[in-house]
Amino acid sequence: MKDIRLGKAVIPNGVMLAPMAGASDYAMRTVCRAHGAGYAVTEMVSAKAMMYGDRKTAALAAVRDGDGPLAVQIFGHDPETMARAAGELAASANAPAAIDINMGCPAPKIVKNGDGAALMKDTALIGRIVSACVRAAEPCGVPVTVKLRAGWNECRNAPEAARAAEAAGAALIVIHGRTREQMYAPPVDLAVIADVKRAVGVPVVGNGDIVSAADAARMIDATGCDGVAIGRGALGNPWIFEEIGAFARNEEYTMPTVRERCLTAISHARLLVADKGERVGVFEARKHFAWYIHGIEGAPACRDRIMRSATLADMETAVLELAERYE
Ligand SMILES: Cc1cc2nc3c(=O)[nH]c(=O)nc-3n(C[C@H](O)[C@H](O)[C@H](O)COP(=O)(O)O)c2cc1C
Repeated sequence: MKDIRLGKAVIPNGVMLAPMAGASDYAMRTVCRAHGAGYAVTEMVSAKAMMYGDRKTAALAAVRDGDGPLAVQIFGHDPETMARAAGELAASANAPAAIDINMGCPAPKIVKNGDGAALMKDTALIGRIVSACVRAAEPCGVPVTVKLRAGWNECRNAPEAARAAEAAGAALIVIHGRTREQMYAPPVDLAVIADVKRAVGVPVVGNGDIVSAADAARMIDATGCDGVAIGRGALGNPWIFEEIGAFARNEEYTMPTVRERCLTAISHARLLVADKGERVGVFEARKHFAWYIHGIEGAPACRDRIMRSATLADMETAVLELAERYE
């Protein structure tokens, strides 16, 4: 596992926290960084909404001190709007380490507008979008990266899409080895990741189903990719970045104890509440608590209590009682 250089940033060991709408927000990134995630990507941000000056969108795209290197991911389909968003982000005082373009979101409400994974149907459009964004962001020294799917459907044209993106100036390609039709379910296709790696000269980051250091090493060995992006494998398990770091240094890794898991869940929830306020923070913390305690004996009853809790204090009591059973 090797570091990837991307503009002024370094992606340590080539490992990044993947973008996840509703999950990879400031709180999650902060917890993952505390456990070794060197590079992260925001939740996807609508380029169009940015141009309307939407406040919530601006908050999603904000790069805060200490939260770097961070790529801001934008979605859309109109080259001009995408470029205006990329240019605005790149020129801001706290510019991101990169602008990432979403070409993988399979959600119906996104693809019906021609955004996200729908871009995989039109590699010429991919070229126009990337080239417009590069023209807007490059003068500020901010590279443009893309996140692809294997394809829209079984035609699996990711290598062609990657070549179009590279020719238009993309500095790095992330490839989720599933088609849009496959959403998130069948095992990831390592062959298409290997094909993308062979198709381009820029660094290629493989993505899909990595839940351990061994999985990361397997994907790199099997495909020749330069790094990996971790999504669901980091939900409730920010230690995966420590595990991969230890693996890269040939050191032993010790899994977190139940108490550590519970205390980290609490820190994560406190960050969420501090950032988004008690009402939204408590609502969003529920799913994170469930991920952190998943698989622990006694978790189902604890999860039920957490789901019914209206305050952070109640959630903390429930999870601390679970932790106490293991002392
Ligand atoms: C809840 C959730 C939200 C996601 N949101 C985004 C997103 O905003 N942008 C994006 O490019 N991919 C998004 N993805 C896809 C992930 O980045 C990743 O490609 C996918 O989950 C496969 O990797 P994994 O098996 O490591 O989770 C999302 C995935 C999940 C589960």
